[in-house]
Order: sequence, then structure tokens, then C-alpha cells
Amino acid sequence: MSSREYHLRELEIAQSPDDPRHVMPRILPRHRRILDIGCGAGQTLIASDLAPSVQAAGLDIDFDALLLGRELTGRVGFVAGQAERLPFPDASFDLVLSRVTAPLTFVPATLAEIGRVTAPGGDIWLVLHSLAKTVRDLRASLGSGHWKRAAYRSYVLANGALFHFTGRLVPSPLDGHYESFQTNAAISRELRRAGFDDMVAIDGRHYVVTARRGERPPDSHRP
Ligand SMILES: C[S@@+](CC[C@H](N)C(=O)[O-])C[C@H]1O[C@@H](n2cnc3c(N)ncnc32)[C@H](O)[C@@H]1O
Repeated sequence: MSSREYHLRELEIAQSPDDPRHVMPRILPRHRRILDIGCGAGQTLIASDLAPSVQAAGLDIDFDALLLGRELTGRVGFVAGQAERLPFPDASFDLVLSRVTAPLTFVPATLAEIGRVTAPGGDIWLVLHSLAKTVRDLRASLGSGHWKRAAYRSYVLANGALFHFTGRLVPSPLDGHYESFQTNAAISRELRRAGFDDMVAIDGRHYVVTARRGERPPDSHRP
């Protein structure tokens, strides 16, 4: 599936509340400035049907996805960039959301950056990868004899365990990118370091984590 097809399909899911894959953030009146990290073509923001006064920005490393986003909506400011090095000033946003993107990044840096750009009192909404999902994906790859995919899923599993126990992550030996699963213990530890309080995690069909930015500055992340 091409990047274009993927993001158009995800837009359809975001606009279909009855689809089991549908999961959307709750946007409150106090969320005047919103950032979506790993926005793709802006599907989550587009489907959120934002009030005209809300300023919405979407960031992604996939330039083609951002160009598609520009075709689909004039409501979102699309920015090419990396989650680990956000090109925004401190305290720029009242809500930072990220749907299934943080697990594809170097999580400590991404969370530290989210902590930096979220205004005190602001909120985050993250959809992460659970251990259960990672095990399911690994079993499916093994079951269908996709050995390369199974090797990659084994890396994701090992990396998530490393992250849980040590806070460290290593890039994939197969493609040099990061991917991991998250646990409540690891993510709450990292979110506290990033300056967040009041974490709530719901690990159901989707693993969704929300938290509130406190007043204290985030710790600087480890290399
Ligand atoms: C699984 S897709 C999710 C897209 C969209 N958030 C959604 O829920 O439909 C992950 C997205 O993250 C982007 N991405 C991956 N690594 C990234 C990074 N380090 N910084 C920014 N975006 C990244 C990919 O290009 C892709 O668009």
C-alpha cells in the first residue's frame, strides 16, 4: 500500500466512528493550539472538525503525506520535521496529540520535545503500542512464514523490553529506525521526566495515554 493509500484509508477510519480501528482525541474548548505529531495527511485533525478559531499544526517526516494533506485541507499548517526535534518554540501548544507515531521514534527524545512544546496546563493524547499488540504481530508474521517481518517484530519486542527495564532504546539492525512497544511503567516514568502529571492509560482495543503538563521544566533527555 502506498503512503497516499494508507493515509486516505486512515482518514476514512477517522471519519467512521463505528469502525473498530477508530480512535480519536477529545478536543476541549481550552485547546486553542493543537499539534499532531506524525500527522500523515492530517487525518486525525481533519476528522476532528475543529472550530475555526483553533490553530492546528501537523508534523511528519513523510513529505508526500504532507503534500496530500495540503490537497485535503487548508485548515492545518503542515510542517516537515522529526518528532525528536520539534521545530516549534517552548510552550506553543495546548494539546499535543500523536496517533501510533511515538512508538516509531526514539521515545525519550520525542517525549522530552513534547514536554517542551506543551504549555503548562496543556494536555497530551498518545496512541502507543502495547506488548499484547506486538506479540500478536509477531505471532502473525511467524504463522504466515514472513521471516523478515518476524525478525523485525522480534526486534520491536526486545526493544520494548529494554525500554521498560532500562529506559534505553536501540535502532533496528535491519533498517536503522527505532520501534518499540510501551508499558505503563516505562511511559509514566518518561512522562514524569518530560514534565507531565496525571497520566491516565487505557489499554483496550487501543493503548491510549493522556497526561497534563505540569509547571516544572522537563528534564533534558539522555542521549
Ligand atoms: C502509523 S503512521 C500514523 C499516521 C497518523 N497519525 C494516523 O494515525 O493515521 C505513522 C506516521 O509517523 C510518521 N513518522 C515516523 N517516524 C517519525 C518521526 N521520527 N518524526 C515524525 N514523524 C514520523 C510516518 O511518516 C507516518 O506518517
